[in-house]
Amino acid sequence: MEAEKKKKIFSGVQPSGNITLGNYIGAIRNWVRLQDDYDCAFAMMDMHTITVRQTPAEMRKRTLELMALYIACGIDPEKSLLFIQSHNSAHAELAWVLNCYTYMGELQRMTQFKDKSARHADNINAGLFTYPVLMAADILLYQADYVPVGKDQMQHIEICRDIANRFNALYGNVFTIPEGMLVKAGAKIMSLQEPTKKMSKSDPNPKGYVSMMDDFNVIAKKIKSAVTDSEGVIEYRPDDDAKAGINNLLSIMAVMTDSTPEKVAADFAGQGYGALKGAVAEAVVEGIKPIRAEYDRIIKDKAYLKDIYTRGAETAHRIADRTLKKAYKKIGFIID
Ligand code: TRP
Repeated sequence: MEAEKKKKIFSGVQPSGNITLGNYIGAIRNWVRLQDDYDCAFAMMDMHTITVRQTPAEMRKRTLELMALYIACGIDPEKSLLFIQSHNSAHAELAWVLNCYTYMGELQRMTQFKDKSARHADNINAGLFTYPVLMAADILLYQADYVPVGKDQMQHIEICRDIANRFNALYGNVFTIPEGMLVKAGAKIMSLQEPTKKMSKSDPNPKGYVSMMDDFNVIAKKIKSAVTDSEGVIEYRPDDDAKAGINNLLSIMAVMTDSTPEKVAADFAGQGYGALKGAVAEAVVEGIKPIRAEYDRIIKDKAYLKDIYTRGAETAHRIADRTLKKAYKKIGFIID
C-alpha cells in the first residue's frame, strides 16, 4: 500500500497590527500542534493587508515581526512552509482568474466587506471588495484540505468552496475543495474591555487586548483592569453575557494552565475577582515569557529570517505554480 499522504493545511495572518493573546491562543498555538499530522503552509498575508491603508515602513517591520513570532511560538520552518504572500506572484495571478468566476452578488453578501467598508468609508476600494477572491486563491493554490480559521472567516471559506466547485464543475477536478477547521469552543478569547466582543488587534482601545509584544507589567495591568461584573461570584456561565468578563478570564486561565474553565472556577470559588485577575495575569506573563525570549533572539537575526522567507517563497512558488498552470491550461491560456 502506498504510504498514507498527509492532508494539507493552509492558513495565514495579516501583518496588520499587534498579534494578540487571542491570536496566539485561538490560532498560532493550535497550528503548532497540527504540524506533525498535516502538511502545513502558513503565510504572512501582506497582500490582504493593503486593502486598508498602511504605513509602508511599519508594515515591513510588522511582517518580519509576525514571522519571527510564528517561529518563536513553535512554527518550525523545517516542518511547515512559512512564506510571505507577496513573494509568490501566483496568488495575484490565480486571484485574477477567480475574479472572473465570482459574482458581484456573492461578494456583496460578505459581512466582513460590509463591516470594513463601514469602518473605512473613505477608502472602499475594489481590493476590499474582492478580498475573499484573493483568499480563495491563497487556499486553492496549495490544494488545502483544511483551513484553520476563526469563526469570523468561515464565510470566506464558504465562498472559496463555492468558487472552487464552480470552477471544477466547468473544467474537471482542478481544485481540492477545502474545509474550514474551527478552533475548539472555549478557546475564543474576548476583549478585556468589552468581553462580549472578540479580542482584536484592530481594537482602537489597547486596553481591550493583550499584545504578545506588550511589556510584562503592561500585560499584568491590562488583565487586572479587565471589565467584570458587580455580582462578585466566580462562576463559569458561558451562556450568560452578564458573566462574559469572568468567563473570559476563566477561559484564559484554563488555556494557560492546561485546565478547563469549570475547574479554574472551582479552584477560585469564594475568592474575590482581584485574586483571579492576579493569577491570570501571572499565568499569562509566565506563558508568554519563553516565547518572548525566543522572539527577541530571532528578530535580531535578520539573515536567518531572510533565509527562511527566501526558501519559503521558492517552495511556495513551486507548489502554487502547478495549480496555476493547471487552471491556466483549463481556461485556454497557452502555457507552453
Ligand atoms: N482573511 C484572513 C484574516 O483576516 C487572513 C487570510 C488571508 C487567510 N488569506 C487566508 C486565512 C487564507 C486563511 C487562509 O484572518
